[in-house]
Amino acid sequence: MTDPAAVGVGPLWVGTSWKMNKGVTEARLYARGLSEYTSRTDLSGVQPFIIPSFTAVAAARDELGAGSPVLLGVQNAHWEDHGAWTGEVSVMQAKDAGAQLVEIGHSERREHFGETVATTRLKVAAVLAHGLVPLLCVGESAEVKRAGDSSGFILEQAAGALDGLPADQLGRVLIAYEPIWAIGENGRPATVEELREPFADLGREYGGRTRGLLYGGSVSLDNAEDLLGIDHVTGLFIGRAAWHLPGYLRLLEVAAAHRKATGSAGG
Ligand code: PGA
Repeated sequence: MTDPAAVGVGPLWVGTSWKMNKGVTEARLYARGLSEYTSRTDLSGVQPFIIPSFTAVAAARDELGAGSPVLLGVQNAHWEDHGAWTGEVSVMQAKDAGAQLVEIGHSERREHFGETVATTRLKVAAVLAHGLVPLLCVGESAEVKRAGDSSGFILEQAAGALDGLPADQLGRVLIAYEPIWAIGENGRPATVEELREPFADLGREYGGRTRGLLYGGSVSLDNAEDLLGIDHVTGLFIGRAAWHLPGYLRLLEVAAAHRKATGSAGG
């Protein structure tokens, strides 16, 4: 596996969380196909990552193999290493199973599983302490957007989890901006215009100080290229459009072509 610390400077991060989908067999097939693809494809300037369910992480690790350019993640992890936390999986256990990246604070976890700004903060710290990459998700509801406070809301979520981190640790963090109104079956794809301001504000605060600023929410082949062109966007965090391997591979190709054409992220 690639050492996350050794990932080249400034790639476009393009990855997918499978959410609560795929068993071990399906995960194996996907990871094997992805591994075959990356072994024969030049994806320089692009950092792929996949985030299976906990049950499939070890299988995906085995299929990707040592030295894979694909980073492997988990969708959540507890901040304590071990203890009486029934039903939880710690960052340490996730790392032991092969995870190199931990998703934190997805809106589905905030809405349904009691994730708070305080717990995202604990999790970011634990992930950094174990040398993994935190992928912090932030995003506002349609209501907050209607009230005209999208940027204030997401900056507050980010600051709540990240304020006070030393520069070197902040530099290991990925932030994904995922407006809730744009996510999933009931989501409406965001327009480029709608995303310019939140990314300008995130960019002002975190651009160049973090590892990357990703966009997520109804990313597809129809909008990927335009999304990558938004200032400060340095990656895509994809759900449904990448659950089928060919869809993910095509999105990786869009990012690689974008990178080649612009020579830098967010261009
Ligand atoms: P979606 O999911 O691409 O299916 O909208 C995005 C996400 O929740 O990260």
